Amino acid sequence: MIALSLSEIAAIVGGQSHDIPDPAVRVTGPVVIDSRAVEKGSLFAAFAGERVDGHDYARGAVEEGAVAVLAARPLPGVPVIVVDDVVQALGALARAVVERLGATTVALTGSAGKTSTKDLIAQLLRTKGPTVWPAGNLNNEIGVPLTALRAVEDTRYLVLEMGARYLGDIRYLTGLVPPRIGLVLNVGTAHIGEFGGREQIAVAKGEMVESLPSAADGGVAVLNADDPLVRAMKSRTEARVILFGEADEADVQAENVRLTATGQAAFRLRTPSGCRDVTLRLYGEHHVSNALAAAAVAHELGMSVDEIAEALSEAGTLSRWRMEVTERADGVTIVNDAYNANPESMRAALRALAAMGGASRAEGGRTWAVLGPMAELGDESLAEHDAVGRLAVRLNVSKLVAVGGREASWLRLGAYNEGSWGEESVHVSDAQAAVDLLRSELRPGDVVLVKASRSAGLERVALALLESTTEGEVSGR
Ligand SMILES: Nc1ncnc2c1ncn2[C@@H]1O[C@H](COP(=O)(O)OP(=O)(O)O)[C@@H](O)[C@H]1O
Ligand SMILES: [Mg+2]
Repeated sequence: MIALSLSEIAAIVGGQSHDIPDPAVRVTGPVVIDSRAVEKGSLFAAFAGERVDGHDYARGAVEEGAVAVLAARPLPGVPVIVVDDVVQALGALARAVVERLGATTVALTGSAGKTSTKDLIAQLLRTKGPTVWPAGNLNNEIGVPLTALRAVEDTRYLVLEMGARYLGDIRYLTGLVPPRIGLVLNVGTAHIGEFGGREQIAVAKGEMVESLPSAADGGVAVLNADDPLVRAMKSRTEARVILFGEADEADVQAENVRLTATGQAAFRLRTPSGCRDVTLRLYGEHHVSNALAAAAVAHELGMSVDEIAEALSEAGTLSRWRMEVTERADGVTIVNDAYNANPESMRAALRALAAMGGASRAEGGRTWAVLGPMAELGDESLAEHDAVGRLAVRLNVSKLVAVGGREASWLRLGAYNEGSWGEESVHVSDAQAAVDLLRSELRPGDVVLVKASRSAGLERVALALLESTTEGEVSGR
């Protein structure tokens, strides 16, 4: 973060200083919420979480080099700035810091692909100048300000992922760190149970474009031309609109999209400044949409089509468990996409699996879809699980292993009704049972996709399969 004195910070957050010997001392290191991440010059923000209370670690954080602690109560002998609400204080500090910076802020939201796209945008923009972006999934009222607070004087681009569980979440986040470029990827079914329908999700995601400056002030809304609910957001913004997608109207387009035999997407990228061929290193055709969104942002920020195509073709996965492909020594390939799942990403992952299986199938290799529940689908849950089970059969996936409770039985039943009976599809109760089954069945040339919603924790299956193939339990979460 840019250096600020403790008295400046106290004024920004409206806090009371306690046991601070010298208010002129400056915070020069990062703002952190995990005392293990403290560096010399840090500010430690203490949160009372569900399991641990950061206040218990405040003293240790100072011993490790933190200059002071942002906290909800005084802690005798520890230099503390006391505020009513540490989350709000963190937000206020982030807002004040970005106001002092000359960086361009790019923010994105959507139902699926935020983290992947954020990583792509970062990998494009960092070729042009110093870029700050969050590791992993820091997309809420704590993660967004923490990321913004990592920006320093020479930061040129700040790339932020913004998530929404409720109406108003994006408005709050864009209020903290106002983007000049705002991107909406898609409106899917993530959290549909809580929102009560796709239209409601669109209302929430559209808060992104409502927050943007007008076209005259440089605001740019980057919208998905292929998603009607996203495209319709153009009526909700004063910013200039740029469209990406396969639709004819898109300013940044993909033509001739295909999956290579390794499950990676290749296409012709068309931008207003020219066309180039791109082959992604990322697996699955769903990344084409993410890549176009990133290309549109990069184009707006002055990157040439050559620069964009080159950086896109080199970009890898920066965040774990998203189509992470590993080939074991014995020739079994594990595709760990267990970070999360919704109907759209299930379909995309299954199609990538089918493509990847093409080559190995000729040599007797099989494709395995190890799938768990998709959470938060409300009334659509049964139909969506049924449809995924059916799709696995239509794509000719060799074996479906449905893992977990009720939803898994719907998956399996969908496959069964589509014509996959006998041993082609099975239902197992939990991750350990899946690992036991796979350990005894897998053979060289097999490709195994592991995917479910976050709450299912199926990465345990992928990780166990990547460990020694002879022993070991699935580690707990
Ligand atoms: N454009 C997309 N459409 C559908 N699914 C996607 C898309 N991009 C990524 N996914 C899938 O969605 C899941 C979550 O991806 P991630 O990038 O972490 O998104 P988010 O941050 O929105 O949760 C992964 O399984 C990934 O393969
Ligand atoms: Mg994310």
